[in-house]
Amino acid sequence: MKIGIGSLSSGVVCALALAACSGVEGSPPDDPVDEAASAISDGNSTAGKHAFDNALPHTNGRACATCHVESEHLALSPQHVAALYLQNPQDPLFNRIDADDPDAAVLTFDHLKAGLVRVTVTLADNVDEIDGSGAVITSAARTISVWRGVPTIENVGYTAPYQYDGRAPTLPVQADAALHAHSQIHREPPAEVLAKIASFERSVFSSPAAAAVSASLAAGTTPAPLDLHFPAGSVEAAGQTVFQEICAKCHGGPTTNAVLDKAVFGSFFPVQHADGTIDIAGFLPTGIALPATFRDDLTPPHEGTLGISAIATLGQLGALPNPSGLSLPHYRFRFYTDATRAHLLVDMPPLPPGIGPSLIPEPFTVDPGRAIISGDPYDWEGFDVPQLRGIAGTAPYFHDGSAPDLHSLVDEYSRLILPADPVLNLPPIFPPEGPGLPPEALTPLQKTQLLAFLQHL
Ligand code: HEC
Ligand code: HEC
Repeated sequence: MKIGIGSLSSGVVCALALAACSGVEGSPPDDPVDEAASAISDGNSTAGKHAFDNALPHTNGRACATCHVESEHLALSPQHVAALYLQNPQDPLFNRIDADDPDAAVLTFDHLKAGLVRVTVTLADNVDEIDGSGAVITSAARTISVWRGVPTIENVGYTAPYQYDGRAPTLPVQADAALHAHSQIHREPPAEVLAKIASFERSVFSSPAAAAVSASLAAGTTPAPLDLHFPAGSVEAAGQTVFQEICAKCHGGPTTNAVLDKAVFGSFFPVQHADGTIDIAGFLPTGIALPATFRDDLTPPHEGTLGISAIATLGQLGALPNPSGLSLPHYRFRFYTDATRAHLLVDMPPLPPGIGPSLIPEPFTVDPGRAIISGDPYDWEGFDVPQLRGIAGTAPYFHDGSAPDLHSLVDEYSRLILPADPVLNLPPIFPPEGPGLPPEALTPLQKTQLLAFLQHL
């Protein structure tokens, strides 16, 4: 359910707002962006919705809604992409910039069909890309590209900063970056248009409870604690208890994205030695290392690893299944002490058999996360703790879309993620659920309860 979106008929919205209504899909109108801006200057989130739903002038025909699909809770599912490709491979979604190989004579879109979009990130001044032998291979533009899923824009009213790696401080800054990156806009969009889009985004919630959290925060009052008021004794109520006891250690508070416990926050940051390796207390049955020592002095905006990139790397190496069959980039980076790039700090990831903060021997990373933005190796493969309200509607999950549904996500937490965090103290003491599978940190009943609860969150 979405609430707060203007329900004016499209005719009324056109009269009020952007001239873009006359544009045929895929061929944006020629009207100058600033005319569009003045047309909506009196506007509200309804005008912003129009600018979100329709391609702006001077773009490649893609609107925000091309990827943040209204019928899909403003996210993008592999099913939607595959169906659209069959129906109309000329749709603006299938732009060369998101092809598997943008330079190929015949374009293919396997990553996009898995719900993944090419995201280009600029390296911090103290970072270089290096190859396997340590030679600097940073591109002239000082960027790299990674494949990431499309998050919903529901509830973004209270989840700043934005992007999986937190690189956009506000919604207008994010919208500007999206217009350049995905819509290839070639005239700077007016601040007013960006503000309208942001105002629309701030009006989109997954539920009345999420809207109430936003309203409380905006009013400077404390939102009500997370409690979905299930009947006592129901499976959902039991699931809420499991969530509060385990998941809320990171997805805490009414916003579901607050890490309130300092030791749990610190567990994202194993102490790194000069060569990038960490202290290891032992190994899990899966072969994943257990970190022994943690930094307890780091605070947001630091984002440490939860292991999702490492799991994808294991998929690329053939050590774990790679169900999508996609090939992902293989990156290594050199961090220097400062922007002069004269004094080496560390090369990451440390070369195998060394084990770094990813908890596995890693010859490369498929996505370094926040570290290349902050220039701090402690942010290695670090991603923001996302909010979870409305989560049942926005599969697939994680920054790389690697969990196709909540069932696989809960399995992944129970088998790979929770056991690897000694601070959570959830060792994998329950038997495997099938041959060849690792032991579990959660019981089958806890998993069932959690899934029932997540359907309503
Ligand atoms: C080609 C697909 C595509 C288009 C078009 C697109 N986005 Fe996105 N959007 C993404 C992807 C992928 C991410 C995640 C990127 C990352 O985190 O590095 C994202 C992230 C976001 C986020 C961050 C959400 C969060 O929780 O941090 C917001 C807000 C957003 N987009 C709004 C917009 C707006 C506004 C537009 C139009 C101006 C737009 N997007 C156009 C693919 C797209
Ligand atoms: C140690 C901290 C931590 C704990 C505990 C934790 N999470 Fe997460 N969660 C994260 C982080 C960080 C991410 C983002 C990871 C990424 O995308 O790489 C995440 C992502 C998610 C996502 C994906 C959201 C999306 O929009 O794609 C879901 C769903 C989720 N967690 C559910 C849970 C559940 C259910 C539990 C309890 C079993 C749980 N989490 C426990 C830190 C945690």
